Amino acid sequence: MIRSVVLGCGSYLPERILTNSELAKKVDTSDEWIVQRTGIQQRHIAGEGEFTSHLAIKAAKAALANAGIDAQSIDLIVLATSTPDQTFPATAVAVQNALGITHGAAFDLQAVCSGFIFAMTTADSLLRTGAGKRALVIGAETFSRILDWTDRGTCVLFGDGAGAVVLEAQEGAGTTADRGVLTTHLRSDGRHKEKLYVDGGPSSTQTVGYLRMEGREVFKHAVGMITDVIVDAFAATGASAETIDWFVPHQANKRIIDASAQKLHIAPQKVVLTVDRHGNTSAASIPLALSVAVNDGRIKKGDLVLLEAMGGGFTWGSALVRW
Ligand code: ACO
Repeated sequence: MIRSVVLGCGSYLPERILTNSELAKKVDTSDEWIVQRTGIQQRHIAGEGEFTSHLAIKAAKAALANAGIDAQSIDLIVLATSTPDQTFPATAVAVQNALGITHGAAFDLQAVCSGFIFAMTTADSLLRTGAGKRALVIGAETFSRILDWTDRGTCVLFGDGAGAVVLEAQEGAGTTADRGVLTTHLRSDGRHKEKLYVDGGPSSTQTVGYLRMEGREVFKHAVGMITDVIVDAFAATGASAETIDWFVPHQANKRIIDASAQKLHIAPQKVVLTVDRHGNTSAASIPLALSVAVNDGRIKKGDLVLLEAMGGGFTWGSALVRW
């Protein structure tokens, strides 16, 4: 059977770092409160004139370099974002154009913080049908542009950034010893759409709007939803907390990550954590964390890597990948 094998990954973070202490000068908060409730110490913020596509292009180029392949061999780009440059065209076509690619297809996908898992699942499905040979899966966000910087309940949580992986369709034996995406599980439940949303949009208000969230409600549902789709991934493959090498969760909040890992009996030393440095970068958080762990030598070829995310909608999902 065909497997979507990871050839490489890369990321990009804007230069500007915004610390908790700086934020405490703008809104009524403190470094202590933010660290204690979320684990976040700092986040990166896109510069003036720096768009989601600019971050995505840099991450895509880094991923192509890491994979050691030419952009011309890419025939599919799936870009997850909730903060596109424009309502249309898709930010993915700006990336395609910047890479000089005029064949194949590029499109955006929107599943908020779960976007990268949804994009990876979509790319994997298309590669396995033979619709493409090599895909760039990108998560890129400039959430700083949709934050209400007077709302201390939300503005302290998010940051900007982008990450990308290159997938290639390769023949596998069909066992979990294969390299590549082994299983993916996607879920959504629109009953919760008002718990985390943006209060604007082209059809409703003709404005971009600001992020609004019932933090406690999100927290309450997060751990259960995350662990459910991980149990599904384990059931589909026979993998377990003991057999995975790395757990790379969406980086929303250290307390949600710790509680999920604990519930699943995943050893703390297997958990890749970047929320302290990046904040919540929504669809970009998983590929950013993957890049960190690949670059520092933790994730190696053949390792079993568990990914999960949960976000607005609610949407949630998991992916189990042999690197
Ligand atoms: N600084 C200081 N005080 C604050 C801040 C802040 N930045 N924000 C809120 N507070 C205050 C509140 O006003 C409230 O004060 P009060 O008791 O006087 O009314 C108090 O802190 C407690 O507020 P809660 O909202 O109940 O605080 P909680 O312990 O729930 O922590 C948080 C808030 C961190 C948002 C938490 O609910 C959370 O992490 N939720 C998950 C949200 C999340 O991660 N969303 C990301 C998007 S979804 C995803 O990616 C999974």
